[in-house]
Amino acid sequence: MTNFKEKNLIERANSVSGSANKVFQEEVKITGDRYTSVDFMEKEMDKMWAKVWNIGGWCNEIPEPGDYITHEIGRESILMVRQEDKSIKAFHNVCPHRGNRLVHSDNGSAADFTCTYHGWKFNQSGTLIYAQDEEDFPQGNPCGKINLSEIPCEVYGSLIWYNMDENCFPLSGFLGEVKNYFDMHDLDGMKRVYYKVCEVPFNWKALRDNFNESYHLPMTHPQIIDYFDDDYKNTDFELFDTGHNLMKMKGCLPSLRDKGTFEINEKIEADLINWNLDPKDFEGKAHKAREALQKQKRKLGSKRGFDHFERMPDAWLTDAFHFNIFPGTSITFTAEVVSLQRTEPHPTDPNKSIYDHWQMALKANDSDDPETNPTMLVASPEDMVEWKEVEKKVVIFGEETLSEVADQDLDRSSAQQLGFHSRGFKGAYLSGQENRVQQFHNIIDRYLNSE
Ligand code: FES
Ligand SMILES: [Fe+2]
Repeated sequence: MTNFKEKNLIERANSVSGSANKVFQEEVKITGDRYTSVDFMEKEMDKMWAKVWNIGGWCNEIPEPGDYITHEIGRESILMVRQEDKSIKAFHNVCPHRGNRLVHSDNGSAADFTCTYHGWKFNQSGTLIYAQDEEDFPQGNPCGKINLSEIPCEVYGSLIWYNMDENCFPLSGFLGEVKNYFDMHDLDGMKRVYYKVCEVPFNWKALRDNFNESYHLPMTHPQIIDYFDDDYKNTDFELFDTGHNLMKMKGCLPSLRDKGTFEINEKIEADLINWNLDPKDFEGKAHKAREALQKQKRKLGSKRGFDHFERMPDAWLTDAFHFNIFPGTSITFTAEVVSLQRTEPHPTDPNKSIYDHWQMALKANDSDDPETNPTMLVASPEDMVEWKEVEKKVVIFGEETLSEVADQDLDRSSAQQLGFHSRGFKGAYLSGQENRVQQFHNIIDRYLNSE
């Protein structure tokens, strides 16, 4: 028996294969004032948020011409409108007459947009079509001449992206290598089945730092080590020059830190059964489940409607591919679901930010037949849910969960924000596996110091 255990341990230890492609130099010291200073926050807005591609929304939210959504970021508000030709245009949500906020709701559908102040009316493509007393303008009739302030907008991966910088690079240049990975998945076939938003009591960067390292997993999320191998030595990291990065964490593989490393637990058992494998075949050798599951998913994927499996490397069939899209968004892909978590700046207070948690899912089966897919349920971060688009739910912090793992992260960031104000905090002292945190801050400062 001992020999059997030892053999497993040796086999498991020999299969460790992590990599980190770059070590980043400490170009900036990560001190508390970066998270508490109003000046720093204003500089970030002017020099960084206004220059990067931001995600304004989820495409399926505005399917028909005239459908619109607004997205607030800091003190800016962006209006995105579906056009007759099905493209989407983005505008600053401000009336060019005298600066009134034009649209006051999160979403809706409108043939045109009328300002509540003096009644100027704009069509869906942002052109002024009515002004009261149009003959009374010494500079000339504004109709047909004055437009809403349009900004670059692109749709990619069913996400609506906008950039407040009219001279920006196209989105594909901003995403760089990340796009090669996204293209392998099937975001366009997904529905957003979970969508919660919450104002949280910490600077937006606190949670970004958290998503830029997995060093916190054993302490902060001890419940996941029976499914994910949290050991950095067995994890691949890629840091891209664009500022984005990727962590590939092995799934369906209990961590060596887990007491039951070689035991089949409930989560792995559920995966095996779901893919027609017999958990009994893996008793005492849970470390063999990952590879077997990859093979089985490769074999059965298309039959279950997951054609994109054919485009993916084996690792992606079981592992978490966790991207940080600079500056504010994490998108974590697993084979069947994609989650998006982000923080964005509060309008005035560096001690607060706006947190979004979305989950997108592919249909569990390519058949709607209840006989072949009796539950028709897909995974959300809290439970199994129906495969349908959901509306935004605004959550008051502390009053409702944002999922178990997210609650743990949000709790740590909240406590960290208190510490950022401490005179005793002299700046972060980072481990090698936290190099993405250093990269993140280096890139922020490169934006802030640019002309
Ligand atoms: S500010 Fe909009 S019509 Fe005057
Ligand atoms: Fe976490």
